[in-house]
Formats: sequence, structure tokens, C-alpha cells
Amino acid sequence: MNKKRLIRTFSIIFIGLIIGGLGTYFQIKSESSGRVATIKSAPVVASDFGGEFTLTNHLGETVTDKDFKDKYRLIYFGFTYCPAICPTELQKITMALKDLDAEIADQITPIFVTIDPERDTVEAMKSYVGLFHERLIGLRGTAQQTKQIADAYKIYYARVKDDTMQDYTMDHSSFIYFMGPNDTLYRIFKVDDKADVIAAFITEHFAK
Ligand code: NI
Repeated sequence: MNKKRLIRTFSIIFIGLIIGGLGTYFQIKSESSGRVATIKSAPVVASDFGGEFTLTNHLGETVTDKDFKDKYRLIYFGFTYCPAICPTELQKITMALKDLDAEIADQITPIFVTIDPERDTVEAMKSYVGLFHERLIGLRGTAQQTKQIADAYKIYYARVKDDTMQDYTMDHSSFIYFMGPNDTLYRIFKVDDKADVIAAFITEHFAK
């Protein structure tokens, strides 16, 4: 398990280096051309990211990747029992959408995918997503569907339990993905990235 986490951690660092490198490249390129250019954010180079899935939304309807493929999305994976990180990150999405110009915010679908489907029933998801945003879509699947989408989005998750716990908790990756049409991944926001960073990046992305 530790080895797996290490590999994932290094993969994320590697992706980060690629993003950083691309940013520098575009900056240098625009400076050398002698003009100030607004460059539409380059997609994150990540092969094998996203793809097909079938899940159930917080209204109990079956949804697939095709329902979201052409939309801009802010996606977060977590679980409703999470005491701190998940609510903070979802709140961040709420604030970022509030920070954005309404016409941009309206184009973005916020999505919360649970990695704890055993406790996160449709009912639990419905009451939970309502706490954050009226358009937040909660998605859950069977254990197998959950594993499939988590793998596709490079999300690590594991059940954690020790003798002092009455119940289990979940250990999981915490990223907010900004994606666009054709499943293009534009940015991976980390816990350190505040709502204003997310809003600023998206605003710049839409500035043409
Ligand atoms: Ni969490």
C-alpha cells in the first residue's frame, strides 16, 4: 500500500513538473515574440485520464461520462463523513463559482464523486451536496464503478480503521480537477490552492 502511494505521489510530482515546464515554455515563447499575449491555458499532459464511466447521481438517475463530456467541470473526489478536508475543498469550489462572473460560472458544472459508496447512499449524497451549491452534482457507484472512476482520475483511496475507532474513515487523494470539453484536463488544484486561485485561473482561461 505504501509503495503504491509513493508511486502515486511521484506521478503527481511528475505531472506537476510537466505543467510547470509548459508554463515556463509558453512564457518564454511569448516574451521572445516581443508582445504581451494572453495564452489560453494549455491542457495538462496526462495520458489515460478520465474516460468512460457509469454512476448514479444524487437524484438516483443513472449518468455516464457522455452527460458531462462537452461541459466545463470542477471535479472533487471525497466522502460525506470526511471531517475536514472534503467540506473545505467543496466549500472552495462554491466560493470559486461565486467569485467568477456569472456567465462563466454558469458554464461550469461542479461535481462531487464519493469514494465511500457504502455509506454515501443516494439520500446521503442528496442532502450533502445541497449544503454546498445548488448545482453541485453528487455521483456514486458500486464498489467496482467507484474503483473504475477513481483509477481513471488517478485518485487513491483506502479504508482506514484502527482499534480506537468505532467506525472506519477514508484516506484519499485531494485534488480539484478543472476539465473542459472532450475530457480535457486543464489544471489540478491542490489543497494549498485557495478559491481565488481557482477563480483567477478559470477567468484567465475564458479570457480571449
Ligand atoms: Ni476527505
